[in-house]
Amino acid sequence: KTIYLKDYQEPDYWIDNTELSFDLGEEITVVQSKLSLRLNENKTHNNLPPLVLDGTDQVLKQVLVDGKTIEPGQYKLTDETLALPVTQKTFIVEVTTEIKPQENTSLEGLYKSNGMFCTQCEAEGFRKITYYLDRPDVMAKFKTTIIADPKQYPVMLSNGNDIAKGEREDGKQWVTWEDPFKKPSYLFALVAGDLSNITDKYTTCSGREITLKIFTEHKNIDKCDHAMTSLKKSMKWDEDVYGREYDLDIFMIVAVDHFNMGAMENKGLNIFNSSCVLAKPDTATDNAYQRIEAIVGHEYFHNWSGNRVTCRDWFQLSLKEGFTVFRDAEFSADMNSRPVKRIEDANFLRTAQFAEDAGPTAHPIRPDSYIEISNFYTLTVYEKGAEVVRMIHNIVGKEGFRKGSDLYFERHDGQAVTTEEFVKAMEDANQVDLIQFRRWYSQAGTPVITVTDQYDNNNQQYQLTVKQHCPATPGQTDKKPFHIPVAIGLLDPEGHDIALNNAGDTTQVLDVTEQQQTFTFKNIAQQPLPSLLRGFSAPVKVKYPYSRDQLLFLASHDSDGFNRWEAGQQLAVDILEELAEKARKNQSLTLDDRLIQAYRAVLQDEQLDPAVAAKMLALPSEGYLAEQAETIYPLAIHQAREFAKQQLAEALSEDWLAVYQRLQSDKAYQPTAADIAERSLKNTCLSYLSQLGEQQLALLEKQYQTATNMTDKYAALSCLVNAPAEPAKPIAKTALADFYQRWQEDVQVMEQWLAVQANCSLPGAFEHILSLQEHEAFDITNPNKIRSLIGQFAMNNAVHFHQETGVGYKLLADYVIKLNIVNPQIASRLLTPLTRWKRYGEPHQAQMKAELVRIRKQPELSKDVYEIVEKSLKA
Ligand code: ARG
Ligand code: ZN
Repeated sequence: KTIYLKDYQEPDYWIDNTELSFDLGEEITVVQSKLSLRLNENKTHNNLPPLVLDGTDQVLKQVLVDGKTIEPGQYKLTDETLALPVTQKTFIVEVTTEIKPQENTSLEGLYKSNGMFCTQCEAEGFRKITYYLDRPDVMAKFKTTIIADPKQYPVMLSNGNDIAKGEREDGKQWVTWEDPFKKPSYLFALVAGDLSNITDKYTTCSGREITLKIFTEHKNIDKCDHAMTSLKKSMKWDEDVYGREYDLDIFMIVAVDHFNMGAMENKGLNIFNSSCVLAKPDTATDNAYQRIEAIVGHEYFHNWSGNRVTCRDWFQLSLKEGFTVFRDAEFSADMNSRPVKRIEDANFLRTAQFAEDAGPTAHPIRPDSYIEISNFYTLTVYEKGAEVVRMIHNIVGKEGFRKGSDLYFERHDGQAVTTEEFVKAMEDANQVDLIQFRRWYSQAGTPVITVTDQYDNNNQQYQLTVKQHCPATPGQTDKKPFHIPVAIGLLDPEGHDIALNNAGDTTQVLDVTEQQQTFTFKNIAQQPLPSLLRGFSAPVKVKYPYSRDQLLFLASHDSDGFNRWEAGQQLAVDILEELAEKARKNQSLTLDDRLIQAYRAVLQDEQLDPAVAAKMLALPSEGYLAEQAETIYPLAIHQAREFAKQQLAEALSEDWLAVYQRLQSDKAYQPTAADIAERSLKNTCLSYLSQLGEQQLALLEKQYQTATNMTDKYAALSCLVNAPAEPAKPIAKTALADFYQRWQEDVQVMEQWLAVQANCSLPGAFEHILSLQEHEAFDITNPNKIRSLIGQFAMNNAVHFHQETGVGYKLLADYVIKLNIVNPQIASRLLTPLTRWKRYGEPHQAQMKAELVRIRKQPELSKDVYEIVEKSLKA
């Protein structure tokens, strides 16, 4: 059944107060609810409509309305609803149900992970716990009592403050939590288990003292410090940048090993995937440290952008997610290197979200319909949603944006609203017109802007003509022009920026609103070279006929850090595309010397921020190259990229070694931006050195053995595993065994261990990946393990996933089929690479499609998998 945005209606009833009690048991958990309901007087009703509550996967035991039992003949029960007769405008409903969390493998609702009870309610998990109006516009005050055996579950948590506790005659303990802020059911959380915690304090801008706690299993208690530091930084940053103060007296984070996503912003009780919170230097890489900081920030920022102001319905998901991703990106940029964060985000968007926009599941950041809302926690809603917020930020400016967000929070505190309210607040606070801009919310697809230019020497005028076009997406054939802010600069022949106005600004934002538009620049003394879409000012593709020499010029002169990197990337893309074409035709390959020159310049530039240098020395990924291609031939792309890597390694071998040696350090590990930058450049050098046959094996081995932090150790392991030289094989094997031996008890490290093997593109790796399915480090019930082995294989290991026999596709499809029943959310996500079948050349296309057809034929497809397969085959 498809749900449409246009069908939205307010609910017939509101819930003002929700009282819950959970008697947690090993066999049966009894859930009792007491709901105070009130007729929604905004709607006109002839009679009092029945109350239709959402609910699945539970056994109904008892229903009372205003204290009187409702007999089975008086209510109507279906697989998904419970309908009750109503006789008063306000009334109390009490429901008792039984559930079995220990058998809940979907990881939605109440379930168990390593013996601990925990919840995930967004988007529609609460209905697996009890019958309820499980929709975000129904906001109630919650009071929750948890009852459990204190020996197994000494820690019992829910939202808000704990207000009472005690012991029952049967020895079970109980605790009551009360959340003073009204909230939708998706923000409810409960945790019970044998947990340790670290505690800290934060004093807010108004002087209130907040207790901060991070809970984990005892064995992980030494891995919580970084998350705690990140939390305090987040709280401070949201006060400084947005004027947002925390509102409860306690803020808690719990780490859970079995979790479908990254983390969840439940009011006052965030629940995190362990991999997004736990870290210590000898087990976590710099990447993990930065991801943790970003996600802790993201969930914390949701307290305002999501919880205090929430979504009216799930079509509005980007209201909270796009905005919050924008907020966490700015937080990360402030805490670390701003240009590097921008490069990473743009690169990710252009590789993965652009592919989504070009595929069968393309949708606007505010979709108009869905079958299963879990399928819409997408890169489009999150990442492109954040870019749309960023464009508003760029249009109204930093201060204007703050005025707009202040107005938004003030107007809508305590409400469930739509993206319209957000845009309106930005308009009202700044007196700007975002009418045309709103198309970003309703139109899917990635706009392409094609730029041409003309220089008129006689009149000293330069003209840029910009055309925009957005390719059709499923269900949207003709697109209206977008309002695209295109930041540009002009470089003179010496590589200096030209002033574009009297104030001397060298970057100007062109408001592109028409299908075709010409912009004229006066007093331009010589033919300039344009630097287009500086800072990636809009989520679009740009076409301009740069020559390779011009790209090389921009890569060394552009004053915009992002565009310097971008020019180098475009140069590499251009060269790699030509190589891939040749590889496909079995022609001999030679690397354009200009790429070597560009790399040499970076390696020899000691002034350059090492973090930026590392980015500039990374070839575009196979995924990015695939996204650029008209028809994708993944094996040719792989071959071309490997060839280029090899040539760069050899041509610059002395530079790689010199920089690698210059960056050796015996400082104690710290996850500071500066240290992370140096390690990333050093390990980039190492990865090129690892291409150099036997010569550098000793270096890899030495780094592997002597590394005192996981970043360096893992980098060396990864280089060893992927080193093409034959003598590397036994060394890699020994290192993998050693690594396993050392860290087998550590879940997070084992995820990394699986991933490094899943990513190996050398011959023979596929058979090894198959054998890892039987390894005890793998576990099909744990989404992280699935992602580490199967997900990484399908997303990042093109040469094996796309092997011509089709066995890679079959492996993925087998997992989709297995997980369809066990965990539909994960099954449906795993499917993503296959949905792109139409973009591939043969034999890939036919084989990928055949696997989709096979999945489609399975009996009892979950809504999640059904929706994606159906859309993929229909397109
Ligand atoms: N709101 C969470 C976050 O982005 C994600 C929840 C995901 N839930 C889901 N059913 N997919 O922080
Ligand atoms: Zn979020």
